[in-house]
Amino acid sequence: MDVIVENLSKSFGTQKAVDAVSFSVKKGEILGILGPNGAGKTTIMKILTGFLFPNEGNVFIGGGSIFKKAHKIKQHIGFLSESNPLYDDMNVIDFLKFIADIHNIPRYRMPTRIQDMLRICGLEHERHKTIRELSKGYKQRIGIAQALIHEPEVIIFDEPTTGLDPNQIFEIRELIRQIGKERTILLSSHILAEMEAMCNRVLILNKGKIVANNTPDELRNPSSHRILDICIQNGDIADICSKLSLIEGLHEVRVTAHEKIRVHASTDGGIEKAIFALCVTNDWYITEMTPVEKGLEDIFRQLTQN
Ligand SMILES: Nc1ncnc2c1ncn2[C@@H]1O[C@H](COP(=O)(O)OP(=O)(O)OP(=O)(O)O)[C@@H](O)[C@H]1O
Ligand SMILES: [Mg+2]
Repeated sequence: MDVIVENLSKSFGTQKAVDAVSFSVKKGEILGILGPNGAGKTTIMKILTGFLFPNEGNVFIGGGSIFKKAHKIKQHIGFLSESNPLYDDMNVIDFLKFIADIHNIPRYRMPTRIQDMLRICGLEHERHKTIRELSKGYKQRIGIAQALIHEPEVIIFDEPTTGLDPNQIFEIRELIRQIGKERTILLSSHILAEMEAMCNRVLILNKGKIVANNTPDELRNPSSHRILDICIQNGDIADICSKLSLIEGLHEVRVTAHEKIRVHASTDGGIEKAIFALCVTNDWYITEMTPVEKGLEDIFRQLTQN
């Protein structure tokens, strides 16, 4: 099922938590929603799952509007909410049975589905504990299990790896990648590296607005802004720098600690050619020209700080 979000806005009082957001996710795609605290991630997810009404806009899941066919569409959605509400007094198995009942999973299918969820989410050893007795990470695993038990077509996970240990994070990422091949998945996080490990595409939100919608690779290496480290021999470095900075599209020319020249290029192409031509004219020669990958934190900060 495809998810299409059209021009979604939601205000709380005078604050616009979500501001004219549009995007779509196809079956077989994993979309990551990334953004700092308060960016609007949870609000968007709550609207998508029909828990919250927007002030404007629409959400289509599998072709139908979630606001017109809420009951029918919700059967196809699995949701792990940020607060992950669970019934503390129930034990793990009873809780999963209860959820399976809510989703009208036929009685004869229930034991296998519950077994599958216990196995997939690493809950087998904890299955007879009451939820109150579980550690935070295990509670999170139950949240994931309840979201997947009815084999939903669309899966919405608000910060799925919060509170998990590194082994479980690895396993949950694998699981998400696996199920993502045949389903439609949206998940949120603060961590770009995590998105990179799981998502085909990343939407970056800041103050309710989309500031980027790219593949992780495009985010790391935007064609419109590249950084190059260059080594040029046979010339005076100050002279080289001043002439380089005259090239159109090159800026922030500076010498690094390793005696390389670091330049920022803000045009699509032709920069290398211009640098090369400059060197030929001046009888300098290039011994190195390397693109520098931007750190993920830098990208995040750049896009979400004004
Ligand atoms: N029920 C509510 N009433 C008033 N304001 C709200 C409500 N829910 C969210 N907000 C506000 O909307 C903005 C977006 O909140 P949201 O929870 O969507 O952010 P988020 O991106 O999920 O942040 P976090 O990373 O901290 O989970 C915040 O400024 C928040 O205070
Ligand atoms: Mg949130």
